[in-house]
This record gives sequence, C-alpha cells and structure tokens, in this order.
Amino acid sequence: MSGHGEPQPMISRKAAALNGVAEVPGDKSISHRSLILGALSVGETRVRGLLEGEDVLATAAAMRAFGAEVTRDESGEWHVHGVGVGGFAEPDNVIDCGNAGTGVRLIMGTMATTPITATFTGDASLRSRPMGRVTEPMAFFGARAYGRSGGRLPMTVVGAADPVPVRYTLPMPSAQVKSAVLLAGLNAPGETVVIEGEATRDHTERMLRGFGAVVSVEETGQGRAITLKGQPELKPQSIDVPRDPSSAAFPVCAALIVEGSDVLVPTIGLNPTRAGLFETLREMGADLTYENEREEGGEPVADLRARFSPDMKGIEVPPDRAASMIDEYPILSVVASFAEGKTTMRGVKELRVKESDRIDAMAKGLRANGVTVDEGEDWWEVTGLGAGGVPGGGMAEARLDHRIAMSFLVLGMAARQAVTIDDAAPVATSFPIFHDLMTRLGARFERTGR
Ligand code: S3P
Repeated sequence: MSGHGEPQPMISRKAAALNGVAEVPGDKSISHRSLILGALSVGETRVRGLLEGEDVLATAAAMRAFGAEVTRDESGEWHVHGVGVGGFAEPDNVIDCGNAGTGVRLIMGTMATTPITATFTGDASLRSRPMGRVTEPMAFFGARAYGRSGGRLPMTVVGAADPVPVRYTLPMPSAQVKSAVLLAGLNAPGETVVIEGEATRDHTERMLRGFGAVVSVEETGQGRAITLKGQPELKPQSIDVPRDPSSAAFPVCAALIVEGSDVLVPTIGLNPTRAGLFETLREMGADLTYENEREEGGEPVADLRARFSPDMKGIEVPPDRAASMIDEYPILSVVASFAEGKTTMRGVKELRVKESDRIDAMAKGLRANGVTVDEGEDWWEVTGLGAGGVPGGGMAEARLDHRIAMSFLVLGMAARQAVTIDDAAPVATSFPIFHDLMTRLGARFERTGR
C-alpha cells in the first residue's frame, strides 16, 4: 500500500445543473477509531457504515497485525474481536499505513505503552510528514522511537514496559496528537491528561466513553483539559458510523457553484468540532439549508440542501474556526474563486503538513486556472471572480492528496474551460465512490492520457 500504481490523469468538464441525492460514505475519523477501539476491547465490536477507503483498510490490516481479528461479512458489516487494553501482540512485519496520517499516529500511540516493538511506514506523502509530534509525548510515557531525520517514517517504536501516566499540553491544534496521547494513556496506570488550547474534533473522547472508559473534560485557563483514567476494561460496542461531513463538502460545494443545481446530502453530522465549513459557506451567502435536524447516536445531524448560489461574497474566515474545518480549506478555496471579492484564511499553518502542503498545492493549481491567490506561512487569500468567472483550462497536481484531487475536479465542474489533474488515484483513500456519486449528480469526469 506504500505506493500508488500508475497515475490516473483525469479531466473535469463544465457540468450542467447538478441534481439528486448524494449519499456520502462513512466518516473517516470515526472509522479508524472504531477499528482501533474495537481491537482494544475484549469481545466482538460490530461496525456498520465503515468507510471502506484505502486509509481505513490499512488500519484494519494493522489491527490484524497486532493480533485482533477483523472481518467483513457479506452484508457489509465489520466485526472486530479485540485483544483488550495492553493485549497487542508484536507484529511480525512492517506496518504499512498507506496515505493515512490518522491511522499511523493513532496506532503508534496505542502501541506505545505495550512492551512490543513495531516498525511503521507509508506512501511517499506519509513518509514526508512529521511524526515527532507523536513520538515526543510517547517518550514521556517511556516509549522510544527511531525514525529518519526530521522524525519521518519509516520509524520503529519500542513500547514502554512500565508506562507512566502523562500530563501533556498540545503544542499545536491536532486531534491526531490528542488521540495518540489518550490511546497511549489507556495502558498507563493512573490519570493521563491532555490539554488543548483550541477545541479539535472530539471523536476519541466521545468514543472512549462509549466503550466504557472514564473520561472527563474541563474548561481551564489553558484550554480544554481531558482526563482519562488508565487501564480500563473496554466493552465491545455496536457502532453505526455517521456519514463524513468532510466528504459531504464536495457535493455541497459543487452544487453551490454549478448553475441551476439543487442537491440533497442526507444525514450529515453537524458536531461543532467538524461543521466549520458549513457555517462559513452560509456566512458567504450560500443557499445551504439544514433540513430535518435531529440527533443520532448523541450527535446533531441534518440533511444538507445546497442550491446554486450566484451571489456569494468573500469573507475573512475567523482563525478560531480553523480546527473545525481544517480539512475543508482546499474545497473552500474553490468556492471562494466563484464568490465576489477576497476570502482570507488565517491561522492555518497546519495546512502545510497535511497529505501535501495544501496552501501551496491549491495556490499553484488555482493560479494555473486563472485565479489570483496570495499566501504567507500561515495564511492565504483567494480573489474571487464571481459566479461563472473562473477561466479554467489549466492542469493541477494532486500530490498524492485526495482532497486536492477532489477540489480541482470540482473546480472543473464550474470553470469555463476543463480542468485536468495529473492523478485521480488518491481519491480512493477517503472517498472511493466519489467518481460514481458525482457523475450521477451530473459531473463530467473523463480519464485521459498524460
Ligand atoms: C484527524 C485529525 C486532523 C485531520 C485529519 C483527521 C483525526 O488532523 O486533518 O484528516 O481523525 O483525528 P490533525 O490532527 O493533524 O489536525
């Protein structure tokens, strides 16, 4: 899984009005966590609606390598027979997490307080990303890590034989690092505390509680302090994975910029730690409504209805909203290209260490398609050209980054001339049905030679 095959160049041509219902797949964050927490429980966890993208399948394979039994039945339900907290076995080979930063960081955390050794790698994108942000707190638990320069994969982690609990303040807003510390804390005695200055997605805290761990959250002067009582016995669960708001973003944003569109995206979680994009789009003047608002599995959920919105205006996106929409800036920059005036995005330096440097990747691709973009280390600004105003006609690089690939395919749906991407293969990491789903709504994607 540590390399994609042949690149798959793809053209996206201007689409006619998009219409229909877009049933997006399961949430990637919750899918990874379902498999990992299932593997740490004693007994059988059942998971419906698991995202069957490459990232999550790599985590399923990793859980097998650490000794859990993970299977999928014919109905599409997944079954995880866990080994219990502290019960991971030593894998007999390298763990390949593919493209998945969430997978590798959460799994490193989970094994760091068990006396086993494991070596991790991934594709070229994952091997370029910083792992020191996880191995630094793991060292406080007593684990050791040996990687390449800059804390990069491949990396070997030697789990602590006598772990101690940790109190750790996150140096950057990162749900992956927060989760790695909490998962490591599971097999340490006493209380592990993580403090985050900005609230990031809280699926790990919620799900740990669901699996029976004792987790408390307190607002302090330094931020949210999350306390976990170590060495619980996790109880297997039956999980319905909600649909992914980060995947919903693509059909929603396409409908806003393609003339005459009206698209319904049902059952999308509006957990406030994930819903920042939708709030931002509404502030820009998008015709985006929440229908049938309700609660499912303790989370706020609604059906999203997005219609063509020719009068959107550029805005200053509040920096304190960044964590709740961190994966959505690439597609927001596409919508911003079709709004009137400038959209400014500040406090987003984390975008530079995602699957790609997302500010650089979007800025270059948008410029190649006639859009003006200015940028600094932790900010960028898109000058919108109004509805129908983007020339297109250019090529963009996907850089092994699913969200960059999908963003440029959506750009092509509304630009005057077709947009080409050099490789659509990365889309399969998080949204394997993207091509079919968007084509059914009215997209015109075509495979092409290089
Ligand atoms: C994720 C956290 C975020 C996000 C990623 C999923 C998670 O990463 O970008 O797609 O599931 O915890 P960071 O922790 O690096 O912000």
